[in-house]
Parts: sequence; C-alpha cells; structure tokens
Amino acid sequence: MRQKLVVGNWKMHGSRASVADLLDKIVAAMPAAAPGVAVCPSYVHLSQAIQLCAGSAVAVGGQDCSHMQSGAYTGEVSAQMLADLGCRWVIIGHSERRQYHSESDSLVAAKLGAAMAAGLQVIVCVGETREQRESGEAEAVVASQLRGALDGQANLAGLVVAYEPVWAIGTGLTASPDQAQAMHAFIRGCLAGVAGIDADATRVLYGGSVKAGNAAELFARQDIDGALVGGAALDAGDFLAIVGAAQA
Ligand code: PGA
Repeated sequence: MRQKLVVGNWKMHGSRASVADLLDKIVAAMPAAAPGVAVCPSYVHLSQAIQLCAGSAVAVGGQDCSHMQSGAYTGEVSAQMLADLGCRWVIIGHSERRQYHSESDSLVAAKLGAAMAAGLQVIVCVGETREQRESGEAEAVVASQLRGALDGQANLAGLVVAYEPVWAIGTGLTASPDQAQAMHAFIRGCLAGVAGIDADATRVLYGGSVKAGNAAELFARQDIDGALVGGAALDAGDFLAIVGAAQA
C-alpha cells in the first residue's frame, strides 16, 4: 500500500507575513493521521517555513536545486544546502523550469543525481504539452522524459514521479480521472523497466489544477498516489481539504 502524498508548490508567491499566516493555519489543522504532506516555498522562505513546521507532520522542500555541488555558480542553490537547512524534499524538472529556463532532460538527470546524493527525497516532474497530447504523442513524450531523467542513475531510492500535463497547470483544466489514471498506469509500466526502482512501491502524483473539489475523484484511482498542488496550495482551507481527500 502506497502512502498518499500531497505537496504544495508555492512557486514565486508569498511574503514573510503570508508564509507565517498560511503555515500557522496548515500546521494547526493538520490531522493526526495525515498522509505525507510537504510544502515547497521559495528559497528565501525555506528557513522560516522549516521553523514553523518543526515538530509537525508537514515537511518542507525546495522547488529546484543546482546540478552542481558547490562553486562559482552565482545565484544557484545546491541540494546539499537544502538538506543542510532541513529540507526533506526537492522538486526537479518542473515544466516551468523546462519552459522558462530551458532545462533539458540531461540537466534534470544531473539535478536528480545531485539531490539523491544529498539525501533529499526527490519529486521528478514529467508531462506533455497540449499540442503533444493532441497529436497523440503524450505517452512517447512522458516515456522519453522518464528515460532521460532516470537512466543510469546510481540511486533512485524513494523517488516520487509527478505527472503534470502542461496544459492543465494553472489553467483550471484538469486531466479527467480517466486520463490521469491511464497516464499514471503507463508511467508505472515505464518505471517497472528502470533498474533500482520498485514500480509498485513508487508514488506517482498528479499535478495540474488540483482543487478541493476534484482531489477525491483523482485520489480514488488506483495509480494516483497524491498530488502536486500549485494555486490551491496557497489557501490553507483548500490545501487542507486536498490533504483530507488524500486521507479518506
Ligand atoms: P496548479 O500548479 O495546481 O496551479 O495547476 C501545479 C504545479 O505546477 O505544480
């Protein structure tokens, strides 16, 4: 049985005041038997978030990390720095990184290796664009992103995959439970062929306009093991409702 996992990706949102407000509410209302829960604020709010979540069931993660360990890389943050600060998780290969920062599969693979080496739990994101889905390439794109990230990795222990169709991110369009389940089953099939992965034990999250109102029907499907939540993670009530749906 895979434990469900709900991760909030706060993207480039928040202030010290809003982080305090959001986490006070989330931590206070977190159910005792919560599923896995993590929040990923911006780098500058990580330290504050780690303090506010201390002793709670809410873990904290980064939204990205460098593929390098240390050195003259202005503006970069290493996986080791995240781990040292107290982060447990890191998101790698989000479509916004791929789109706005030209992250290639090989860069995603190098970041994944660095994050694993630092002892972080990694969520690697994959997903097709609208054009790719409409031209029937969705599975081929996702399979190729998975191969590009995972092939040849020395350590993939505890890896989490997030399926985030680009056309569903921040658009209000969600993949239907049937569409998501079909792709999640396909992803699990791909993982079964990767050395170092126990496909049945690997959590595959869905991401893309997950809300309080659609989480339960997604989580009811066999291969959907939780969610990577963007917009709805910025509202304590919405996020807690999604966590509650994962618990049910
Ligand atoms: P969204 O974002 O929930 O706002 O669609 C999800 C994500 O990008 O991880």
